Amino acid sequence: MHFFSHLEPYAGDPILGLNEAYLADARPHKVNLSIGIYFDDAGRIPVLESVHQAEAAMLAECAPKPYLPMEGAAAARSAVQALLFGSEHAALAAGRVATLQTVGSSGGLKIGADFVRRWLPTSEVWISDPSWENHRAMFEGAGIAVHSYPYYDAARGGVRFDAMCEALSALPRRSVVLLHACCHNPTGVDLGAAQWRALVPIVRERALLPFLDLAYQGYGEGLAEDAFAPRLLADAGLTFLVVNSFSKSMSVYGERAGALSAVCADRAEAELVLGQLKATVRRNYSSPPMHAAAIVSRVLGEPALRARWEAEVGAMRERILAMRRRLHAVLSARKPGRDFGYILGQRGMFSYTGLAPAQVDRLREAHAVYLLRSGRICVAGLNNGNVERAAEAIAAVID
Ligand code: LMR
Repeated sequence: MHFFSHLEPYAGDPILGLNEAYLADARPHKVNLSIGIYFDDAGRIPVLESVHQAEAAMLAECAPKPYLPMEGAAAARSAVQALLFGSEHAALAAGRVATLQTVGSSGGLKIGADFVRRWLPTSEVWISDPSWENHRAMFEGAGIAVHSYPYYDAARGGVRFDAMCEALSALPRRSVVLLHACCHNPTGVDLGAAQWRALVPIVRERALLPFLDLAYQGYGEGLAEDAFAPRLLADAGLTFLVVNSFSKSMSVYGERAGALSAVCADRAEAELVLGQLKATVRRNYSSPPMHAAAIVSRVLGEPALRARWEAEVGAMRERILAMRRRLHAVLSARKPGRDFGYILGQRGMFSYTGLAPAQVDRLREAHAVYLLRSGRICVAGLNNGNVERAAEAIAAVID
């Protein structure tokens, strides 16, 4: 009996599949600029000292491992709230924020998507053009129609902000608008403070539900600076959802450390929302991982570990900026007359290079340099040992 012979073969994920192809490539000089992972200058995924110390203490305690509650560990949830909004924020004091620890921020997106589908069944989702490759699939997978709003201006390397505002101003009421809180994935081009402020009246007047994705906190301008958007929307009294991740900021990708917060109108609504989000978790994966919660609450909650972590995040951000400068210098030297200033202006791990799919294929096939076919490179894959070669290879495929 063949129950499954009619299945379509899976074409593979454009990001994870490319990373697998990189790992399988035997060429010793290969360069991985595909996946959004921070590598150190030796090309390794670092174990942060703050995380290592937290884990050593956890191991020594040898505590039992019960199921966590559906919403996750209380200490991790309140640490996340303080990190996102600042511990003194009025929205927290008013009890209008419901936070769940989730299975990475992807788990938070999925729980949020299922929640929207069930409780705002006529709402559709708008994502930026372009957006993270998986956003559309996640919301469509939850049964929600997904559209896009104008975002990246390929000609200027900036944001098509007027077109974006015009599109958002015309959305049906209660539409969900997915916004990248910082370090836009894939372009590296963020909204400025004035632009975020200009979105507030549009969101209010059109009764839109922002859904912020904050996966790269600390990689833009700083931990507090990168939380500008959730703090602004909370200050403005808006209702919104926000997912955040520690995968990159604590370099704990496989631990699946993330959270989903719903900022609501008041405490009563936040309690209702928390209840239904818990029900959504129970239907999906029952409860989140304990190890992730313990890392997050210890690193954020113990002053010495917290200080160490903040310094480590700062160092990772600075190393990426140094790589941006090296890449910019080599490309500018090899291709005089071309403006590579976008590399310096973009923020976070990613740079949208404008390379066409054929150039990307040539980089992979002829030079063993891996990047997404959209032209996105992960600058955090560059290091002092490979940046010259990667830059020379990119210059070689540019006409
Ligand atoms: C990326 O965009 O490369 C990362 O967010 C990893 C992923 O899961 O796609």
